[in-house]
Amino acid sequence: MKVEVRSPLISNLISYPKFNSDEYRKRILDLEKMGVKDVILEGFTQLYELKILGKGHSGIVLKVNTHSGKNFALKIRRLDSRRKDCLTEVNNQKLTNLVGIGPKILENTQDLILMEFIKGKGIFDWLVDHSNLTDLNKKRVVQIVNEILEQCYTLDNLNLDHGELTRIDNHIMISNKNQISIIDFESSSTKRKPSNVTSVTQALLLSGAVSKKISQYIKIKSYDLLLNQLRNYKKIRTRLHFENILSEVNGKR
Ligand SMILES: Nc1ncnc2c1ncn2[C@@H]1O[C@H](COP(=O)(O)OP(=O)(O)O)[C@@H](O)[C@H]1O
Ligand SMILES: [Mg+2]
Repeated sequence: MKVEVRSPLISNLISYPKFNSDEYRKRILDLEKMGVKDVILEGFTQLYELKILGKGHSGIVLKVNTHSGKNFALKIRRLDSRRKDCLTEVNNQKLTNLVGIGPKILENTQDLILMEFIKGKGIFDWLVDHSNLTDLNKKRVVQIVNEILEQCYTLDNLNLDHGELTRIDNHIMISNKNQISIIDFESSSTKRKPSNVTSVTQALLLSGAVSKKISQYIKIKSYDLLLNQLRNYKKIRTRLHFENILSEVNGKR
């Protein structure tokens, strides 16, 4: 279902969780300036009986289109977010965009982020869907794990810590074309020591529901060795130490 951005049906999504008419009016004007035309009520999350792309602690994410007819994801800052604006998130995500990571940001204000729409699912649901379709095999899963680790290595080298990659399912999306997207830079920081590779390895291979699913395809020969390689990498972040981690995944030693 598609509604105009000014439709009263979605006013409670634009100003969430409480309707505030000043905020609402300001946001609508900004959306119009950005060229956002319609909101497309689609997605796997339901809010007030409306389908949306997602809802987190800091934002509501809607599928929208602009006057050009292209689809985008619009992240709207929740009024009860712990952040007073989304500018740090925007700056950090724009930094990752420079190296080809994260949904590309088109435009933003203090409360709105218009970015590339990722047509896909969170990694856990994606893995479940594809293992049910029986079109998953070891090679494909290894490719995906490698690609995720490479993106995290790039983030480590940018000195940007995503901050929430242990909660992998909410933060890594896989598109229908197998494109991997790290999303949600709300908790990211350039001031902490980056731990993207170690956090994501934990979630992919060592603990939690995603790692359990992945272990059906990738058998780690020695967990002790993997932990050891992680420790070495944590101590001295070099390409060689990173590739030692990859070797444990790829079974090449
Ligand atoms: N660019 C995008 N394309 C498609 N869906 C997205 C996009 N960004 C976020 N989402 C969806 O919205 C959800 C919430 O977004 P997120 O950025 O994690 O919000 P929060 O910072 O509030 O946690 C995500 O888990 C995802 O399902
Ligand atoms: Mg989130």
